[in-house]
Amino acid sequence: MRILGRGRIKTVLVTGGAGYIGSHICVELLDAGLEVIVVDNLSNSSQEALNRVEKIAGKTVLFYQIDLQDKARVKTVFETHTIDAVIHLAGLKSVGDSGRLPLKYYQNNIYSTLVLLEMLEQFSVKNIVFSSSATVYGDPATVPVTEQFPLRATNPYGRTKLMIEEILRDVANSSHIQVVLLRYFNPIGAHESGLIGEAPNGSPNNLLPYVSQVAMGQRDKVLIFGGDYPTIDGTGVRDYIHVVDLAKGHIRALQKIAENEGKGERCQAYNLGTGHGHSVIEVINAFEEACGHKITYKIVDRRSGDIAECYANPNLANQKLNWRAEKTLPEMMKDTWRWQTKNPKGYKSD
Ligand code: NAD
Ligand code: UD1
Repeated sequence: MRILGRGRIKTVLVTGGAGYIGSHICVELLDAGLEVIVVDNLSNSSQEALNRVEKIAGKTVLFYQIDLQDKARVKTVFETHTIDAVIHLAGLKSVGDSGRLPLKYYQNNIYSTLVLLEMLEQFSVKNIVFSSSATVYGDPATVPVTEQFPLRATNPYGRTKLMIEEILRDVANSSHIQVVLLRYFNPIGAHESGLIGEAPNGSPNNLLPYVSQVAMGQRDKVLIFGGDYPTIDGTGVRDYIHVVDLAKGHIRALQKIAENEGKGERCQAYNLGTGHGHSVIEVINAFEEACGHKITYKIVDRRSGDIAECYANPNLANQKLNWRAEKTLPEMMKDTWRWQTKNPKGYKSD
């Protein structure tokens, strides 16, 4: 880790740093001895997450409540601080909403990125790590998925990821900026302290927040979307990865970028997954072990746009980033349950 603190990368700007994944990344950055600046408009998060990040790490985060689309205010952040690298997580992420409100998604996700990249160019910031998603592989022909698979988005959210990847590739080819694209599979779990975790607004779209709310008695039953997929038990299979493992992958990406400066690939994509798939039923069974009681579920129709099976081949990240997901499915469940029981209303309970 020392290369980061003493070497070329000392101060990291984290956009969307108050969010679920961003807050876990902030903890890892602070633990690695880096200065952390967060820009977040809190449209899907709470500043309390950053208070708790500081509590876990015993260090401070510099926070600006700014919308990334507000170029003048973003510029003041770059004028005030010498930023060595940016981790760009800020964005809207609901697949369903993106279908209903495509312009909102293109405006927010794409325009924010353009503003940010203009600042990187103007202030000679050399490094950016981008939060991409396995969604860029669409419905892969086979599994496991490697970075060479064809890219194809199936909804506006996914298209923003794909477009931003393309924009970043062009920028890397034409400027001093080095890019790492991290394609996340299915991040779940929470920090082992139980202080930070996923706190969705309204009804959760993703499986794990839904299962944990059912386990808490906040919802009746899990609706399993499809029981007739060609998988081990007919339910969808995904590559669930602990959010802390995912966060550590960002530190390795920064290390790689710092080592590579001026040589090697200028834009590289890496899958961040475990390399193992688990079905919805397997996840529910593992959650029952963690919470100690049965979870009611019902198999219903498939969700439109869903795919049967998706899991990563993470070899490239294993080899080139010297990173490997270490936490097991039972650990993911235990940490989710701890977070959920300590914070039944997310960050609102304070
Ligand atoms: P999140 O909603 O918890 O975090 C995103 C943060 O960005 C929020 O704090 C939100 O307030 C902020 N934000 C949004 N638009 C902004 C803007 N214009 N200006 C400033 N801040 C803004 O989501 P997350 O799960 O932590 O995801 C982080 C990133 O990772 C997103 O880009 C998401 O698309 C990507 N990703 C997430 C998953 C997942 O399953 N959670 C999977 C793949 C990729
Ligand atoms: C979803 C997004 C994807 C995004 C990813 C990570 C969709 C269609 N896809 O993927 O673009 O990159 O999240 O944010 O939304 N499931 C149920 N019941 C539920 C919820 C989910 O059975 O209430 C099943 C799904 O059918 C799937 C699995 O659980 O088989 C995981 O679902 P989810 O957590 O939504 O993630 P993805 O579908 O992989």
